[in-house]
Amino acid sequence: MVKIAVVIGSTRQGRQTDKLAKWAAADIAQKADVEIVDLRDHPIPFLDEPISPRYNPERKPDPETKKWLDTIAAFDGYVFVTPEYNRSTSAVLKNAIDVLDFQLEDKPVALIGHGTSGGAQAIANLRMALPGVGAISIPQALFFNDRLADSISDDGELKQELREREYSPQSQLDQQMSKLLWYAETLKTARK
Ligand SMILES: Cc1cc2nc3c(=O)[nH]c(=O)nc-3n(C[C@H](O)[C@H](O)[C@H](O)COP(=O)(O)O)c2cc1C
Repeated sequence: MVKIAVVIGSTRQGRQTDKLAKWAAADIAQKADVEIVDLRDHPIPFLDEPISPRYNPERKPDPETKKWLDTIAAFDGYVFVTPEYNRSTSAVLKNAIDVLDFQLEDKPVALIGHGTSGGAQAIANLRMALPGVGAISIPQALFFNDRLADSISDDGELKQELREREYSPQSQLDQQMSKLLWYAETLKTARK
């Protein structure tokens, strides 16, 4: 089984992004070894290293950054769930990417966004950033534009009326997650 991390891209009090993360994790729980990785558990300092992480073989990251790097390196694929703040991804998620060196090299990332336009600009922003750390953002993104407070329960259950809707978010998620697993399995074999 491949190992998949679902990263919650918001640490805000009263955040909504964690619901999407729980929903996505549940979708692949039978087919992958899935773990929710909460950036609240990783208070990584803002990147202040003198040399870009990928160009510093002598790198000695601070302990909190090192903990994040070791955690995230252990997976074969990722779901980054992002809020949209001022037409962009969150600063905490961008910083968590900026401190990476080779932990995501040749590994797939599925992007899920939310907001008034489904987090489209946050997702576009992440699609530009991820190649910088060698990651592959898979073609299928999920733009969730229903109000999360009314759409997904605190336990990550999508409301029935949304499940039944034509071209429902559930069918979009199912397709996106099965593609992610395909990429994760294929690239895991290719990396060997
Ligand atoms: C600082 C800030 C900026 C925001 N900017 C946008 C935005 O550009 N586009 C959008 O659709 N929603 C925007 N929102 C609304 C967020 O989509 C909404 O608060 C969402 O719940 C954020 O995710 P979170 O609750 O997990 O932090 C913004 C919210 C905040 C706090």
